[in-house]
Amino acid sequence: MKFPWKILMAAPLFFLLPLQSLASPAYRDQLGTTHSNSHTCIGCVLVVSVIDQLAQVHNSTVEAAMERLCSYLPEKLFLKTTCYLVVYLFGRDIVKLLSADMNADVVCHTLEFCKQDAGQPLCHLYPVPKEAWKFTLEKARQIVKKSPTLKYSRSGSGICSLPFLAKICQKIKRAFENSVPFKDADSDKYSIFPTLRGYHWRGRDCNDNNKSVYPGRRPDNWDAHQDSNCNGIWGVDPKDGIPYEKKFCEGSQPRGVILLGDSAGAHFHISPEWITASQMSLNTFSDLPMALSDELDWPQLSGITGFLDSTSRIKENSIYLRLRERNRCNHRDYQNIAKNGASSQNLKQFLESLSRNQLLDHPAIVIYAMIGNDVCNGKSDPVPAMTTPEKLYSNVMETLKYLNAHLPNGSHVVFYGLPDGTFLWDNLHHRYHPLGQLNKDVTYAQMYTFLNCLQASPCHGWMSSNKTLRTLTSERAEQLSNTLKKIATREKFSNFDLFYMDFAFQEIVQEWLKRGGQPWELIEPVDGFHPNEAASRLLADLFWKRVQLQWPQVLGKENPFNPQIEQVFGDQGGH
Ligand SMILES: *[C@@H]1O[C@H](CO)[C@@H](O)[C@H](O)[C@H]1NC(C)=O
Ligand SMILES: *[C@@H]1O[C@H](CO)[C@@H](O)[C@H](O)[C@H]1NC(C)=O
Ligand SMILES: *[C@@H]1O[C@H](CO)[C@@H](O)[C@H](O)[C@H]1NC(C)=O
Ligand SMILES: *[C@@H]1O[C@H](CO)[C@@H](O)[C@H](O)[C@H]1NC(C)=O
Repeated sequence: MKFPWKILMAAPLFFLLPLQSLASPAYRDQLGTTHSNSHTCIGCVLVVSVIDQLAQVHNSTVEAAMERLCSYLPEKLFLKTTCYLVVYLFGRDIVKLLSADMNADVVCHTLEFCKQDAGQPLCHLYPVPKEAWKFTLEKARQIVKKSPTLKYSRSGSGICSLPFLAKICQKIKRAFENSVPFKDADSDKYSIFPTLRGYHWRGRDCNDNNKSVYPGRRPDNWDAHQDSNCNGIWGVDPKDGIPYEKKFCEGSQPRGVILLGDSAGAHFHISPEWITASQMSLNTFSDLPMALSDELDWPQLSGITGFLDSTSRIKENSIYLRLRERNRCNHRDYQNIAKNGASSQNLKQFLESLSRNQLLDHPAIVIYAMIGNDVCNGKSDPVPAMTTPEKLYSNVMETLKYLNAHLPNGSHVVFYGLPDGTFLWDNLHHRYHPLGQLNKDVTYAQMYTFLNCLQASPCHGWMSSNKTLRTLTSERAEQLSNTLKKIATREKFSNFDLFYMDFAFQEIVQEWLKRGGQPWELIEPVDGFHPNEAASRLLADLFWKRVQLQWPQVLGKENPFNPQIEQVFGDQGGH
């Protein structure tokens, strides 16, 4: 959750990093507090590992492996072009070093993408014979006679400071700037495009020319003439002259779902195929440009607001799809206001991107799911940087006051508690990371240690071999969950009622075991941290069942006209 998208979008493609830091607006830096040169190091180690393994898998030269990698990348977002540029700049050195049997750690230290600062530990992913490190690095440096481009590779200005690259960097920078989410916070928030915070994130607009037309509003004049709320129901029944929206939706208490969340809620996901040499082919990266334009999140498949069919074995629907199934008048009324790195502390930076008009719109179910970043950070001593219960109380109260001023009366707010993240270490530490599967040389324990060393871990507290620290992190998480529970029982607001629900990861693990799965299969394989799509859908299922049991008023009634709506309007214009 603390994985700022700028690390990870660039991780498989470290050459994008210098551009990334150029394109990052300040608030993004506040969300992600990692050191910029640690991103460069992680990206370099990943890419060099992939090149090395591609050569191994195809029994080819390193040169051919680099050519292969670039040929697989799509043209979009300059990915292929940038890859060839990187090969042009660093390819010769990478060939020399890998051919001399140096591993990715040594290559990246030699090329100075990774640096060991004085008094700091040596950060490495692969096992290193300690006494040999200095010797090996010296030997590697001899192999690579310093080339003029080398000095540009150092973190900071990056390759964009090469004069002949300035122009293309400008272009790429602009492409990324256009992807800055929420930049139009005050204008029309709904879009007819999928990515860049478009309809993957909130219901698709059905009239881009009229700002009074958007999902979730109460119908204007019963939508007799146009579909003002984009639910696909409009016009007049010729048989009796009654508008369909009035006939089918009046009194059905429509409502939308709004998620305030972090990378787990946005469904952060890096395809393991992107870093697995043995599975790479021409199709491997086809969805990478889309994923990058969505900040490496896949809200369209998430447990709360997903609207696409699941790609996992789990067929349970998202909360949004269930609300739609319950009342077809809710069609397209979803908003995923989640952000990688979000916590109770920084939510106010993007809370305004929530769109709800108190006078014009239907009530909403708001799910507050900041499930990790109040205890997760990458600091070498993570404990002092964790949110205290007192601070959480005041942060959340501020959020609730904002919501009370913006949500239509009759809305509902549900808090999710924080999970106990000790299952990460317990279930993963001895397993091989996708990068380590070919040669059985990188476990999650090593990956975690590498990220902690670079102070770039999304959650040092739980992704750590230090049991005391893991326990401390869980204790704080429990205190914060209890704080949320306390707020939910104590505080009252005029426009919504307030509930608390435990984030019961253990329960979905039990459910998964019952279905014949293994606990580790519920975690994102590349980051070893986030719940994956299956977990996200199982959590949604549990959420739905609990709300139905305890607070059925939150979900509203079943609409008896659903079959007629389907008959007249089909898929209601799709999503
Ligand atoms: C790999 O390539 C080399 C040289 O082209 C060849 O001698 C060797 O037999 C090949 N190994 C395999 C496993 O194909
Ligand atoms: C825009 O939509 C609103 C709501 O349906 C409607 O009242 C208004 O007339 C529309 N404006 C234009 C220019 O069509
Ligand atoms: C909200 O609606 C309830 C009834 O559903 C009503 O009792 C309450 O006064 C309303 N609150 C406001 C602020 O209008
Ligand atoms: C483990 O973590 C605790 C709590 O942060 C810390 O006090 C202790 O020094 C750590 N132990 C090691 C071996 O790093």
